[in-house]
Amino acid sequence: AYPSQTIRNPDASPDFFFEFSLFNLVEDSDNIAYSCIFETMRIRIINGPNLNLTGSREPHHYGNKSFEKWIQETQHKYANQEVSYFQSNHEGLLIDEIQNAAQQYDAVILNAGGYAHSSIALADAVRALNIPVIEVHLSNVFSRESYRHHSFLTPYCQGLIYGLRLTDYNLAIHYL
Ligand code: DQA
Repeated sequence: AYPSQTIRNPDASPDFFFEFSLFNLVEDSDNIAYSCIFETMRIRIINGPNLNLTGSREPHHYGNKSFEKWIQETQHKYANQEVSYFQSNHEGLLIDEIQNAAQQYDAVILNAGGYAHSSIALADAVRALNIPVIEVHLSNVFSRESYRHHSFLTPYCQGLIYGLRLTDYNLAIHYL
């Protein structure tokens, strides 16, 4: 290891000085350099039942872009966030995914689909998770049937974004 060193060039801009210091850190300690330069937030998107049909089902509610297309576009957009995606139509698989999220991810964006309005078991899983969860709904659930106005998940989520279709997810990533 090299002794920690900083070389000040009086003509350099503050930005240059910062980069140079980080370069020294790379030489001094891989661990420190990793956490300074490459710190990425790992975000897991978890989508529930029927969200695999996004883009083709009820486009007036959910838009006409598929999730696969959106994720392809999104993964290149964010330099400091690593976004990955899981979808299941099965309640137990969603619970497993939520339970395991804290081991691999820093935050979750969750669209539980219809289970948001019905599943106490999913709400319990969110409640037990010790990383931030943002709840999203593509459609404006409050302009729809009254049974969509209540979500069992919302009290245990950091925030709720709804009605802006896939842009909900972009806003959640920006927030995180
Ligand atoms: C949804 C809204 C739910 O009420 C519905 O059951 C869904 C999708 C949304 O993204 O708008 O499946 O979560």
